[in-house]
Amino acid sequence: MNNRNNFKEILVSESEIDARLEELSKEIYEVYKNDEDDLVVVGILRGAVIFMAELILRLDLDLHTDYMAVSSYGSSSVSSGVVRILKDLEEDIKGKNILIVEDIIDTGLTLKYLTKNLKERGAKSVRIATLLDKPERRKEDVNVDFIGFEIPDEFVVGYGLDYDQKYRNLPFVASLKEEVYS
Ligand code: IMP
Ligand code: MG
Repeated sequence: MNNRNNFKEILVSESEIDARLEELSKEIYEVYKNDEDDLVVVGILRGAVIFMAELILRLDLDLHTDYMAVSSYGSSSVSSGVVRILKDLEEDIKGKNILIVEDIIDTGLTLKYLTKNLKERGAKSVRIATLLDKPERRKEDVNVDFIGFEIPDEFVVGYGLDYDQKYRNLPFVASLKEEVYS
């Protein structure tokens, strides 16, 4: 069982996420409704899986899905600053509209790299949807089109996000007590 004694605070509840998903999917629908044939939703493994599933279930668009995996954190909670592609796209994205779906934007390093990389492959447009944003931690300036929730500078888990691969299956977002990850 996920050890609830390790949580400091629930930052975003299940019902808050549900309500925000409804709003976000409408915003996204409005942007793509006239250009839907070329839309590829790209989930960043593994953290974005739950958010992406819930989001595309609410998007009545003619979209494709694809996934990438990049290295960011290892089992530590400190960013290494190195972005490496561990799993690449299966689709040719030349001329396509790309919506990158991420769990969280922290330093911005990962999304800065991915946006540039996908544009270089000839994507028609590259936009970003993230469940969470930690603006205080930003090192790279990234234009994020769709943001679920801004959160304070705390290490969080749940709704896809992990600490050491655990807690991804929590239906809410919680901060971890510092003694758990330091
Ligand atoms: P960035 O490149 O620093 O923006 O880091 C983005 C990645 O770091 C995310 O995709 C997450 O995998 C991981 N990350 C950043 N903050 C947290 C957190 O609070 N909890 C869990 N993972 C995090
Ligand atoms: Mg991630």
